[in-house]
Amino acid sequence: MRFRDKIRGGVSLIKSGVARRRFPLSVLFHNTIKCNLKCSYCSAWKRTVPEMTTEQIKSMLDQLAEMGTRKFSYAGGESLLRDDAGEIISYAGQKGMFTTLTTNSLLVPERIDQLRDLDLWIVSLDGPNSKHERTKHVPVEDVLAMIDLLVSRNRKVWTNTTLTAGPRADIDFVISQAREHGFRANFQLMRTYPLALNIDESLLCSREEIIEAFSYLIWLKIKGAPIINSFSYLNRVKEHPFGMFDKCLAGKNYCLIDANGDVYPCDDFQDRLNVENGLEVGFKRAFELMPEFDCQGCTFPCYIENNFLFALNPETVWNAIKEVW
Ligand SMILES: C[S@@+](CC[C@H](N)C(=O)[O-])C[C@H]1O[C@@H](n2cnc3c(N)ncnc32)[C@H](O)[C@@H]1O
Ligand code: SF4
Ligand code: SF4
Repeated sequence: MRFRDKIRGGVSLIKSGVARRRFPLSVLFHNTIKCNLKCSYCSAWKRTVPEMTTEQIKSMLDQLAEMGTRKFSYAGGESLLRDDAGEIISYAGQKGMFTTLTTNSLLVPERIDQLRDLDLWIVSLDGPNSKHERTKHVPVEDVLAMIDLLVSRNRKVWTNTTLTAGPRADIDFVISQAREHGFRANFQLMRTYPLALNIDESLLCSREEIIEAFSYLIWLKIKGAPIINSFSYLNRVKEHPFGMFDKCLAGKNYCLIDANGDVYPCDDFQDRLNVENGLEVGFKRAFELMPEFDCQGCTFPCYIENNFLFALNPETVWNAIKEVW
């Protein structure tokens, strides 16, 4: 991302936080719903949704850029399955967007060259082998080898750990690997959500485990551990382990776009809110016509951190500057 685009991103942030302008500053895009894994906590791969073509996605990016989108997060399904991933990310970068991509990492060797313009790789890493094999059914050594490949090619790497029952040992493992392999670590809780069908709910953390894990993460971060989550976020989850609805900016300053072009406030509403489709009515109109929704709150870091960031919470803004710039 060019320096000029970083400055523009900062100006957009101020517009969302101070002027309270409604526009999708940040967009999470599910480029595909297909996957090469069948994780125990996910059923994305069970859905059937038609996917947009490369040209349709580029047109979507043109429209988002006009609306002021500055962050484009690419996920799925498995984000690296589509062979136009590099082309789409480069195009988003040319439009001045900061780009991230979340992946299970299996296809990194095939895609690393195409994805030269990607600003931030986010690799899923759930814990030691006993845990990663249980959630993703892949040896953790394979994931660490992919991280080493990315780091050796000077790519910026974060990991995303989905915390499941017995989180303390997973946190210790990930932090020790972060120090050894040179990456920074983000943590989120495994959750249930409407689209998660037949996932293994015995993997969910208990209330006590959540409070203990987040108190521990706060302590580790104070001690200088390479943890990305802001203190504001960690404290929020410690105090509200199952989330709370508080000034959420979903549908106001960020949104989720599904693989077929449906525009949702966030992925909690996929297939259960009657939304507009950007291919049919245009992405600006689909965003503006987002229906009202009821929510009890959540603990998803990508969203809650956005809520703090776009409301210009000083600690989260400073944390983001340190982690991203
Ligand atoms: C849906 S995946 C898409 C990207 C890619 N397929 C991957 O697994 O990294 C995005 C992130 O959500 C996590 N995830 C999947 N199911 C989850 C659940 N039920 N609760 C919380 N996180 C989950 C994944 O481990 C991954 O880090
Ligand atoms: S978490 Fe990612 S890798 Fe696992 S099934 Fe879901 S989309 Fe696929
Ligand atoms: S699920 Fe989370 S991000 Fe979505 S509307 Fe509710 S609080 Fe906001």
